[in-house]
Amino acid sequence: MTSQYDDYALQSRYSANTETARDSADVETAQATSSMELPTARERLLTEARQYQKIHYALVTRVSAGELLLLNNGYEEDPPMALPLSASDEPDRFGLQLYHRTAAQVDLSDKQVLEVGCGHGGGASYLVRTLGPASYTGLDLNADGIAFCQKRHNLPGLEFVAGDAENLPFSDQSFDAVINVESSHCYLDFPGFLAEVSRVLRPGGHFLYADARHSYEIAPWQAALATGPMRMLSQRNISAEVARGLERNLQHSIDVVVYKRILPAFLHGSVDSIVGTNHTRFCRDLQSGTITYWMYLFAKA
Ligand SMILES: C[S@@+](CC[C@H](N)C(=O)[O-])C[C@H]1O[C@@H](n2cnc3c(N)ncnc32)[C@H](O)[C@@H]1O
Repeated sequence: MTSQYDDYALQSRYSANTETARDSADVETAQATSSMELPTARERLLTEARQYQKIHYALVTRVSAGELLLLNNGYEEDPPMALPLSASDEPDRFGLQLYHRTAAQVDLSDKQVLEVGCGHGGGASYLVRTLGPASYTGLDLNADGIAFCQKRHNLPGLEFVAGDAENLPFSDQSFDAVINVESSHCYLDFPGFLAEVSRVLRPGGHFLYADARHSYEIAPWQAALATGPMRMLSQRNISAEVARGLERNLQHSIDVVVYKRILPAFLHGSVDSIVGTNHTRFCRDLQSGTITYWMYLFAKA
């Protein structure tokens, strides 16, 4: 698992910067009549932020050497879900439980499903094997991760495509359901993403969604969801379940931590303690409400 804490922190910095840039871009547009073809400050920051996402996750793919199939924080209930899993899925239990709870909100059997932000495809593979969709397309911005998925997950009806959540490479009304797990905090134009999800869904189709935000981002996030193009059928604060999943998943995260592979052995103890500290900090933030994690179900009219 990567350091989600750092991921959220960096993304928030970019979001804050792009807000500032949006204001200065307005001034630039008004003043610079002769430089219309030059990129605005906002466009430059958006490009930079997108590059950060690509480089960060490409690095995770390269150094994880095929052992890291789930990139989310995990999920566990009280009492434990005890989701039946094969021996090969067992190491990824907590990440898969988040996928299961998000996707099983509706019946996906015989449906055409798109997952946006599929990461290393562990969730996609599990859902195809257990929920019986007619087809399942996993999309991610990280082309290296998509190449890894294409080699690693060979199942009938499952395919992977490189692409951007904010500009989906599919025609209107081509899917019955769209799944999105712990990826949307990376997007720069969240309302634009919701518009894209709605565009590719057929009428009556479902959007199955889970992600987290810092407390100061909650109001605009939930306003975008409430006023967006799809109808909210249910919402649930799952911060306690994610904090529990994160705690139970700590040893697995330490075992597969990617940065250890590129550092000399004498630094491994320090890396383990950084991973432990990041987990503790993220759990504490989930428990205190500094960060909240939500699961949603939406329908397209
Ligand atoms: C925390 S990982 C979660 C991956 C996967 N859903 C999982 O749970 O294992 C976030 C994922 O979002 C992807 N992502 C970030 N920005 C994206 C974008 N604009 N379009 C599509 N995917 C994006 C990243 O490449 C990464 O794979």
